[in-house]
Amino acid sequence: MEGVNSPSRGAAVYSPGPIYLERGRGSHVWDADGNEYIDFMMSFGALIHGHAHPKLVEVVSKAIADGSHFAAATCAEIEAAERFCKMVPTAEAVRFCNTGTEATMLALRLARAHTRRNKFLKFEGHYHGWYDSYLLNAHGHASEQLGPRHEPAKIPDSAGVPPKVFDDVVIAPWNDLESLEHILRHHGDHLAAIITEPIMANMGCILPREGYLQELQKIAHRHGALFILDEVVTGFRYAPGGCQEYYKLQPDLSTFGKALGAGFPVGAVAGPRAILDRLRWGENMVLHYGTFNGHRLTMNVIAANLDLLATDGAYKKLHAIGDSAIKGLREIFAKQKIEAAVQGFGPMFQIYFSDRNYIFDCRDYCSFVNTARYSEFVHRLIEQGIYMTPSNGLHWIISTAHTEADIQKLLAVADAACAELA
Ligand SMILES: Cc1ncc(COP(=O)(O)O)c(C=O)c1O
Repeated sequence: MEGVNSPSRGAAVYSPGPIYLERGRGSHVWDADGNEYIDFMMSFGALIHGHAHPKLVEVVSKAIADGSHFAAATCAEIEAAERFCKMVPTAEAVRFCNTGTEATMLALRLARAHTRRNKFLKFEGHYHGWYDSYLLNAHGHASEQLGPRHEPAKIPDSAGVPPKVFDDVVIAPWNDLESLEHILRHHGDHLAAIITEPIMANMGCILPREGYLQELQKIAHRHGALFILDEVVTGFRYAPGGCQEYYKLQPDLSTFGKALGAGFPVGAVAGPRAILDRLRWGENMVLHYGTFNGHRLTMNVIAANLDLLATDGAYKKLHAIGDSAIKGLREIFAKQKIEAAVQGFGPMFQIYFSDRNYIFDCRDYCSFVNTARYSEFVHRLIEQGIYMTPSNGLHWIISTAHTEADIQKLLAVADAACAELA
């Protein structure tokens, strides 16, 4: 065992081993040795308001005094759901579970039941949680292993998944409509769903080409497949209604997690009643049990979190602070003559050390990104009080707790780290 409960927190990315964090407040964290950092990872994006936000501390303290969870219907669930459906444009109904993985798992089951088809399409470099059916082609590999763009090789991400599971999965490169159309000529009419992250967040931060997501939605529908938007990372981050609001999309199902719970474990599937009603008890229902579904403390946190996010200025601040960091980092790399692309906008971005101006997909990432250099760079930042994962596959996160002073500190430290790298 590595002393961690998820490999991305351990020696696989941190040298010489995991950093044990003990305490957090606002945008800052402290490790077990008392070292202070500005946190740009924010619990893989879950902490949209930073650490120990006073309002959320108050809500949790009050709620737990009356009991943590009843596994029964509660008013707290209704209050969370009402706010959720008000903010997410396509949420006629919502179902809460406990993690993003559970949400994408449930969305796929709903899509299969709704279309009466088994196959689904996912994209290279997209991660949708650790459910068997999704556990392929999420990681980077040597480019020779990827196979042709029109017929990508299926590459499992984990041992222990029966290979037969992948018979129902079709893989395509992202941001590439021509390859997708080619692949769909063979598989399109058997697909229950096409699932996509709106912004690729598990190979850093890769934006969709102009009009790509809108076209993808049309293509899915042309083949009778549901369009599932996995907003586990982007939901409640880019806009009150996530990327579906930002890019004006109408996914048939969308999945949420992370920022929705503001630090508490949650997942959610949203969509029209015509699909979500399949969860109602009865013949041919889609089964979704769970002792901790709609956990009372979490539901209280969600209601308070969404109220905070609905206040004027929350998204303006997230975007302004993030854009300031992105602009500053670009200027530093240009000044220091270091070949690096800083991708993303507003609350989420990533740095790629590469001779390419832009990374468009998993194949670019596998071929042109110097992930070892990035890890070296981030380890230097950590030594100087910036907490961030050295994994290039993740991304920098801005919360409503970050300040311009945090960004100025980041830029000063990054400038010094670049001078050592150069
Ligand atoms: C896009 C996306 N979907 C689903 C998940 C799974 O969420 P969780 O880790 O809460 O199970 C993740 C986690 O990083 C994710 O990035």
